[in-house]
Amino acid sequence: MTRLSAVGAGMIPLCDGAWLLKGFLLKYEQALLQNLERLTEHSPFRHMVTPGGYRMSVSMTNCGPRGWVTDERGYRYSETDPVTGRAWPDMPALFSQLAQQAASEAGYSDFCPDACLINRYVPGAKLSLHQDKDEQDFTHPIVSFSLGLPATFDFGGRTRRAPVTPYMLEHGDVVVWGGPSRLFYHGIRALKKGHHAQMGSQRINLTFRCAH
Ligand code: SIN
Ligand code: FE2
Repeated sequence: MTRLSAVGAGMIPLCDGAWLLKGFLLKYEQALLQNLERLTEHSPFRHMVTPGGYRMSVSMTNCGPRGWVTDERGYRYSETDPVTGRAWPDMPALFSQLAQQAASEAGYSDFCPDACLINRYVPGAKLSLHQDKDEQDFTHPIVSFSLGLPATFDFGGRTRRAPVTPYMLEHGDVVVWGGPSRLFYHGIRALKKGHHAQMGSQRINLTFRCAH
């Protein structure tokens, strides 16, 4: 089966089931940034600690009914923000609509995210190679938005030792991976110094997931 007729301009295939949608968010950048500001006032960025006791260089927060957290008890989704003791802020309709649209462009209809992890990278921050596997149902893809400074995204395979291919993710790009690539290893290399006109010296990434 081919999806070629549906492939839009700026859609780059990464592997079977995974796509990079270049500049997909650019028209919405102002609205995305305004929403982000509001969300992070409610649930601020914080450096979480891995079960092994390592303080992550990326700072994180969440929006939506569930949020991904890590501490000495492990990785999991939580309906409350452990820092504020309150629910995570609502997922803005614009976020879920754009995530659904991107998923659908990549061939995944019916994507209905209930979690959005928001990662903040400053120069030097990185995310080591990992799988997104704390969700209950792997039939849904992961949809990832990139804003701010460019970063190198390593996209690998089913095992940690599989070779990785590096892709440059820039402001406005979306990556969708699911189906045969849903559990592929991926990571972000240490962010290089720089200045972005809208975002300053940082990169923000949002990953939308169906967690339950
Ligand atoms: C993630 O793997 O959860 C984030 C990837 C990214 O920052 O692009
Ligand atoms: Fe991930």
